[in-house]
Amino acid sequence: MFNVIKKEILNQSVKRMVITAPDIANKVLPGQFVVIRINEEGERIPLTVASCNKKKGIISIIFQEVGFTTRKLGRLKEGDAILDILGPLGHAAEIKKYGKVVCVAGGVGVAEVIPVADALQRAHNKVIGIIGARTKELIILEKEMRLFSDELYIATNDGSYGQEGLVTDVLRSILEQKIDLVYAIGPVPMMEAVANLTRDYKIKTIVSLNPVMVDGTGMCGSCRVSVGGETKFCCVDGPDFDGHSVDFRELAERLKLFNNQESEMSAR
Ligand code: NAD
Ligand code: FES
Repeated sequence: MFNVIKKEILNQSVKRMVITAPDIANKVLPGQFVVIRINEEGERIPLTVASCNKKKGIISIIFQEVGFTTRKLGRLKEGDAILDILGPLGHAAEIKKYGKVVCVAGGVGVAEVIPVADALQRAHNKVIGIIGARTKELIILEKEMRLFSDELYIATNDGSYGQEGLVTDVLRSILEQKIDLVYAIGPVPMMEAVANLTRDYKIKTIVSLNPVMVDGTGMCGSCRVSVGGETKFCCVDGPDFDGHSVDFRELAERLKLFNNQESEMSAR
């Protein structure tokens, strides 16, 4: 059993949980994720490990309550237990000295980009952070992101905080500089827009994908994505892929596949 030892509300739909998971804390690297099953009947959901403390044997996860299971997870209280946490899974982000790196995150993607920005900064890269949300109240983890960015830009769709517009509006102005890598995490349309923008500038762009996952071990095929015309399984080949080669349209369609079941479960 994995015990919830701390729970925090980051915004109206995003929560952070600190969980005891010593074996995972000991091994997990930036960019890796876990698959969580709350109880025997529960579906499995993949969540990026937002931070870990090896000494204390704890990890933290940050999730948006978007469906039946994430809402159920959000209802757990400090002291409650989670049945299974499988991981760490997936390849770690490729951390090396690139030079100047832009880390772009949309919405709850900030939680996932932070461990990567931290590792890239430790590897002596200059990290430019861009975080965006629809409105000021939805911006999360600004303080933490500021800590791991040499420069940080904020965008809100309604202009209530930072620059008015999308993260790509900020990125467009930054791309006039020489940039060596762009790392993007967020909703699929955002990652697609980032990749479309950087393609023209021929800047290597890594995106971290989160398709539907079931077993998390490459057996069920539910997380398949097309990258450069080849089928890849996000759980074992990813989650990071070359953004210029990902078929985002197919990914968006596949994400809609379970919408009916999701609505049925949510109505219960
Ligand atoms: P959102 O729709 O509120 O977007 C957040 C920000 O991303 C926006 O403020 C904007 O700056 C940027 N953005 C969104 N669409 C864009 C576009 N077409 N072009 C350029 N920039 C764009 O995001 P949300 O509500 O936090 O998340 C929506 C969905 O995305 C959720 O279902 C969530 O699970 C998923 N998501 C996936 C990941 C991942 O791991 N890849 C990370 C975060 C969110
Ligand atoms: Fe089953 Fe990836 S989750 S193959």
